[in-house]
Formats: sequence, structure tokens, C-alpha cells
Amino acid sequence: MEIKKKIKQAWNNFTSSNEPIKILVTGGTGYIGSHTVVELQQAGFEVFIVDNLSNSNIEVLNGIEKITGKMPVFENIDCTDYVAMDRFLSKHEGIQAIIHFAASKAVGESVEKPLLYYRNNVVSLINQLELMSTHHIKGIVFSSSCTVYGQPDQLPVTESAPRKTALSPYGNTKQICEDIIMDTIYSNSQLKSIILRYFNPIGAHPSAHIGELPNGVPNNLIPFVTQTAAGIREQLKVFGSDYNTPDGTCIRDYINVVDLAKAHVIAVERMLQEKTKKNVEIFNLGTGRGLSVMEIIKTFEKVNKVAVPHQIVDRREGDIEQVWADPTFANEELGWKAKESVEDTLKSAWKWQKNLMKKAEK
Ligand code: UD1
Repeated sequence: MEIKKKIKQAWNNFTSSNEPIKILVTGGTGYIGSHTVVELQQAGFEVFIVDNLSNSNIEVLNGIEKITGKMPVFENIDCTDYVAMDRFLSKHEGIQAIIHFAASKAVGESVEKPLLYYRNNVVSLINQLELMSTHHIKGIVFSSSCTVYGQPDQLPVTESAPRKTALSPYGNTKQICEDIIMDTIYSNSQLKSIILRYFNPIGAHPSAHIGELPNGVPNNLIPFVTQTAAGIREQLKVFGSDYNTPDGTCIRDYINVVDLAKAHVIAVERMLQEKTKKNVEIFNLGTGRGLSVMEIIKTFEKVNKVAVPHQIVDRREGDIEQVWADPTFANEELGWKAKESVEDTLKSAWKWQKNLMKKAEK
């Protein structure tokens, strides 16, 4: 039977008999991956995770089970290992779509270890795309980033804004991966892809059973804020206060991680239900609102009633001054909108940090 028909039939079976559709989530124990697994399971999908645990912890699976009541299938596999991935997909026949999170994401580390980033991020994507054809997998949702826009000429930034030369190997891998997907899909009309350009995901699941788990000293703002509030770090360094913004600190579009996770469920359903308008679609996932570093610190302190000792220091090399999304296309075409307020999101980040500390005390 033709692949198209097979998938349509699988979808019909799913909607009529509630037979779960199988989805592979690479990097499913990571920060955004784990929140997406929860949303997929709650939407009735059967989730298969592969992750090499290079930047996550196996205990995340227990958190997922606590929330959903279901333990996803998990295997410790490095996505750059073609043979292991091939074996996994043969063992779990019938996977219909991939959500590909597995990638390295520390901008600074990517400057020091570019080949590690090109191998992890580019080779793993090539493997998934090749295996999709062999295993008759219809669609792939890809985690891209607003980093591809660099400093946009116009704000808010829309999907049609030109991509700028990447400032780091990490950023470059996202651009290269987007290009690889587009070239591959255009050469093979059987495959579909939705590329999601994330702005700055923050916060944790409201249950505080899963959240962000940075290895060592955090690079990103929110884990550094929560660890400073918790007394694990002495002081937060605010990188620069002489930017051309109202308070001089950088502006970003901070999006709740559960809101972000929900967009992946919609994207997968859209591909499987053949609702995509093009074989490759690109969406900005942001709130449409920019907040400065100082606004984040002040709001965090206010809603959580806790101090975040901080000090202004020099700019961090490679930082973009300001960027926030125009999410209209995602709002209208996907029917998805970021709903959580930044206040509730920052509360969830603090609740998660406190939960981590409680666990560490035991
Ligand atoms: C960047 C990338 C993003 C990528 C992410 C991966 C851009 C626009 N964004 O996010 O695509 O996915 O890295 O890690 O390139 N800050 C401080 N003190 C800190 C930490 C951060 O002041 O200790 C400030 C930064 O200067 C920045 C803001 O907080 O203005 C957010 O920083 P961060 O959380 O690291 O994210 P981005 O750099 O925006």
C-alpha cells in the first residue's frame, strides 16, 4: 500500500478506534523534550524516547510517569549512531512521526568545540531523515531557534525575515539543519516537516515533577536566576546595561515551556492529518512580547517574594540586543497561542527549583 494511504488509514484508525499513534521523540528526556512527551501522552499518543542522557537525567522518566501515569518507552541511544537508530526503529515498527530535539545547545561550548556541535546536531538530523525513508516515517518536527534571525532589522520578527550569518557554530548548525530539511523534503514529496523556531523557553511543568536541569553552571538566564535565589550561586551577572533598550539590558521573548510543548502536539497532528499547506512549514513560537533582563529579575522577585542578588557586568560576547516574535502565523495557521503569563511561568520555575532542593536534601 502507498505510504500516503497507510498513514491516512493509521490516522483514521487512531481517531475512530483510539489506537494510539506512535511518535519517536529524540532528546525526550531533555528540557523541552520531556514537557513535549507529557503533552503527547496526554493527547493519546504512544511515545518512544531515544536520548543519550548527555545533558539530561534518567530520573526525568519518573517525573513524566508521575504526571501522566504512563512510562514512555526509553532507550539510551546516541542519535548520531545510525545502526543503533535503525535497530530501534525496526524493533518498534509503526512509528509515524519524529520530533527531533536531540542536539547540543550551549552557544559558548559550540565556539570551543565546533566539531562536536556539527557532529551532534547535523549528523543526527541526517540519520533521522535517511531512516524516515527506510522506515516509512511520514513527518519530522524540527527544533530550530530564533537564533537564525540574528539581530533582525525589524521587530517583531516574522518567519519571512532573512536569516543572518550565525554568530556561533551552534547557531550555524540550526541554519544548516533547516537547509538540509528543506533540500531533502523538496527532493522527496513523501516526507513532511514542520520547523519550529523557538524564542526563549522558560519555566517548568506546573506539577514541578519536570523542569530545566542544567548540567553544572547554567548558561541561560532563568536557571541562573533560580539558583541565585536558592543561594546556590552568590550573584547573578547581568550581561550589559548599555544596550539601546529602555532600561539598557537585552530584550527577549520568554515563552512558557508547556505552551511550547503543546505546539509540538499540534504540529504532529497537522502533519499526520495532512493539513500542512507546504511540505516544509516554518513557525515562530513566541509570545509576541519582549522583556528585558531587568524586567525578568524584578518580576521573578515580586511574584516569588524572594531576592535575586545581581550585579551589572560587561556585555556577553555574541549576545543579540533585542528580539521578540511575531507569532501571528502560528496563532492563525496552527491555532496555537502562548497562554501562560510570565508571572505564572516564573512562579513555576521557582517551584521547580524548590522541588529540586527538597530532593537534594533527602
Ligand atoms: C541563546 C540563543 C538561543 C539558544 C540559546 C541556547 C539567541 C538570540 N538566542 O539564547 O537561540 O537556543 O542561546 O542556550 O541567539 N543573561 C544574563 N546573565 C546570565 C545569563 C543570561 O544577563 O547569567 C542574559 C543574556 O545576556 C540575554 C538573556 O539573559 O540577554 C537571555 O540569555 P539566555 O537565557 O542565555 O538565552 P539567549 O542568549 O537569548
